[in-house]
Amino acid sequence: MYTLIDGKSTASLIKEEIAGEVRKRAAKGLKIPHLAAILVGDNGSSETYVNNKVKDCAEVGFKSTLIRMKAETKEAELLEKIRSLNEDPDVDGFIVQLPLPGHISETRVIEAIDPEKDADGFHPVNIGRMVTGIESYLPATPYGIVELLKRYNIVTSGRECVIIGRSNIVGRPLSILLSLKGMDATVTLVHSRTKDIRDHVLRADIVVAAMGSPRFVTADMIKEGAVVIDVGTTRVPAPETRSGWKLVGDVDFNSVAPRCSYITPVPGGVGPMTRVALLRNTLMAVRKR
Ligand code: GUN
Repeated sequence: MYTLIDGKSTASLIKEEIAGEVRKRAAKGLKIPHLAAILVGDNGSSETYVNNKVKDCAEVGFKSTLIRMKAETKEAELLEKIRSLNEDPDVDGFIVQLPLPGHISETRVIEAIDPEKDADGFHPVNIGRMVTGIESYLPATPYGIVELLKRYNIVTSGRECVIIGRSNIVGRPLSILLSLKGMDATVTLVHSRTKDIRDHVLRADIVVAAMGSPRFVTADMIKEGAVVIDVGTTRVPAPETRSGWKLVGDVDFNSVAPRCSYITPVPGGVGPMTRVALLRNTLMAVRKR
């Protein structure tokens, strides 16, 4: 029998912890954390993500500011806005929601953010800090996964961990976090050019599926008793739902779950944990300042 890893209730618990910290700060007359978000253009998913981030802030007692800029905004104007947030003493951390319109360089934008205010942990300085094991702002999804493993007391030390997918925001940073001292996993990162992915995944005590292929991971790839973490969130048409679509993970849950010791559902697994990272990083930013 497997245990379902409940990301939704774990995220609520962490939010309560953060809200408690904010109340303590307020009682001591310390600064209330302030997160700002820049949204450029009107991408539907980005709109939802940013609105949820603002809602999370209200829930834990943070101050938040949403800055909307038109899709035609010039890169120089966005860089100017970033500079003003870098210098604004009231703003502890901020994010620029991605993706950006095609005429704006995401690299230049990320590099313009003051690393001390980089609530997404995307700046190369923060990635460098993370790689060397210095306390740093952590990218949202890798943070969420590590926190779930810790809170379910899932041992990573000495265990074989296979991550499927090498994206800059999930697979690659997670491979680093899990191999750091303290986590001590033996990490294999497989991707679209890997030969015989199944042979690697079959050896894994912990499998993280993060390549964005719905139901790619099937029962024949899973060792009996493995821990399976599903990062996939592909929207597929579903006439039976009110919205007309549903979220499908990278794991074929129904066939895989019976072989697992622990597994995350989609939705309600990793997803809810990712938003908590931003709150955690902002709290860390205000403490530093
Ligand atoms: N777009 C998708 N995920 C993220 C994220 O974590 N941060 C930002 N800024 N944009 C995103």
